[in-house]
Amino acid sequence: MPFDIPVIAIDGPSASGKGTVAQKVAESLGFHCLDSGSLYRLVALAALRSQLPWSAEAALGEIAKTLPVRFHGGEIILVNSIVTDDIRQEACSAGASIVAAIGAVREGLLERQKAFRQAPGLVAEGRDMGSVVFPDAVLKVFLTASAEVRAERRLKQLKQKGITAKLPVLLQDLRERDARDSSRSVAPLKPTQDARWLDTTALDVDQAVNQILLWYQESR
Ligand code: DC
Repeated sequence: MPFDIPVIAIDGPSASGKGTVAQKVAESLGFHCLDSGSLYRLVALAALRSQLPWSAEAALGEIAKTLPVRFHGGEIILVNSIVTDDIRQEACSAGASIVAAIGAVREGLLERQKAFRQAPGLVAEGRDMGSVVFPDAVLKVFLTASAEVRAERRLKQLKQKGITAKLPVLLQDLRERDARDSSRSVAPLKPTQDARWLDTTALDVDQAVNQILLWYQESR
């Protein structure tokens, strides 16, 4: 029964380190990992490629439902092309934030996300993993950090990729995205009452991973 398969839900704002932490937790437990943000990014990419306006909500919902995407060996394949890097481009980040506020898109992606629940278990990260997609998750974590620290982490990441950026611009961008993700009417970013709060402002990745593994052991 899929409901017997344990899910660890990790939600939180942009650049809180959810992706890295979720992947490491999944690796230590031998679980599958769902980066749900990549699905919103994929819908945005498909819409940009077919020049669909953001106002075409029904068509975007249809894309979300029928998107021919495969996840294979760390790569994301849309139709027949690898789009792992393309979906991280700024145009897709901005587009993802817009399509994520459309009810038909969220609805279209719901079953797709639930299908990631495979034995022996799943670590799912995003904004509404614990509140909407996997409300019966055995452990719900709300992972966050101060906006300043998140902006610094993003700056470091971009530098490593050879991309120059300015800290005040990144900080402003994060604050705007936080506000958009938290204030939208459908599935806003908000910790559930049963979520464990993990502030990583003063923690490194391994400390955050270990805390989640400890909570998971306690929950069993
Ligand atoms: O985590 P990310 O930056 O890749 O997410 C991209 C966008 O998708 C971001 O604006 C938030 C949105 N998102 C969402 O609304 N719900 C999710 N479960 C995951 C991401």
